[in-house]
Amino acid sequence: MNRDRLIVALGITRTSLHRRGYRVFNHPAALKTTIASAMLRLSGWKPGMPVLDPMCGGGTIVIEAALASRGIEIPCFKLDELLSNPIIERLIPGALDRIVKLCTKPLQESDRIHIGIELNPRFLEGAIINARSAGVDDVTLFILGNSIKLIPKIKKLEKEFGQSIEIAVFNPPYGQRMKPRDLAKLYKDIITTLKDTGFKTAVFITSAISVAEKVLMELDPGKTYRRYVIHGTLPSYVYTIVFD
Ligand SMILES: C[S@@+](CC[C@H](N)C(=O)[O-])C[C@H]1O[C@@H](n2cnc3c(N)ncnc32)[C@H](O)[C@@H]1O
Repeated sequence: MNRDRLIVALGITRTSLHRRGYRVFNHPAALKTTIASAMLRLSGWKPGMPVLDPMCGGGTIVIEAALASRGIEIPCFKLDELLSNPIIERLIPGALDRIVKLCTKPLQESDRIHIGIELNPRFLEGAIINARSAGVDDVTLFILGNSIKLIPKIKKLEKEFGQSIEIAVFNPPYGQRMKPRDLAKLYKDIITTLKDTGFKTAVFITSAISVAEKVLMELDPGKTYRRYVIHGTLPSYVYTIVFD
């Protein structure tokens, strides 16, 4: 109950929606697919727009964007469960027909505008395998290397994409295996690089909140919004930066 509103939610699939089924490679610090999808929405990204994950790990954010661009909406992963649930048709007559149409609509042609950069070759290979398993390997581009060095080069190639890349969505290391000083440098470098190369928005999630706050205070890169989320057992913030 919220003041005068009663919110009733009905679970229409038996398994949780974050279990999409495409992740055959599991990155040790993989982001929940549902959080990745929500972060893309928060960034103002819309299907068909280019997006960069500069620290892509097993590729979750890039794959979620590519799936949305191709019109493969979330319920399609759960189509079998939806079709065997008699309540849906009773509650919303015609809903199942509409979902089947949505899930079987022909995929659209798009370019490789969903881009991930990853430092570790094993994780990059995992991202490519995951993208193949999700059926989006032809609309994703995974690049091996240090994003601090690669982003300026990629921005120079923007003309080849035909669209400029202005949105970055990412999940940087939280520092379990890094000294706080090195983590702060990484956060500082990536935010400065994105700003200096003309990105308009960056959305990132971290549980290293004190490091992120210190860096953001020092850099003051633009309007910054914070949202508290629990990622697994880790209290985290999703930061949205709109660069000045
Ligand atoms: C928390 S993980 C990302 C997990 C990913 N979102 C997923 O769902 O699989 C952070 C990743 O950033 C990568 N990384 C750290 N510094 C980097 C840099 N300078 N350039 C590119 N990748 C980097 C790490 O190797 C690690 O795989």
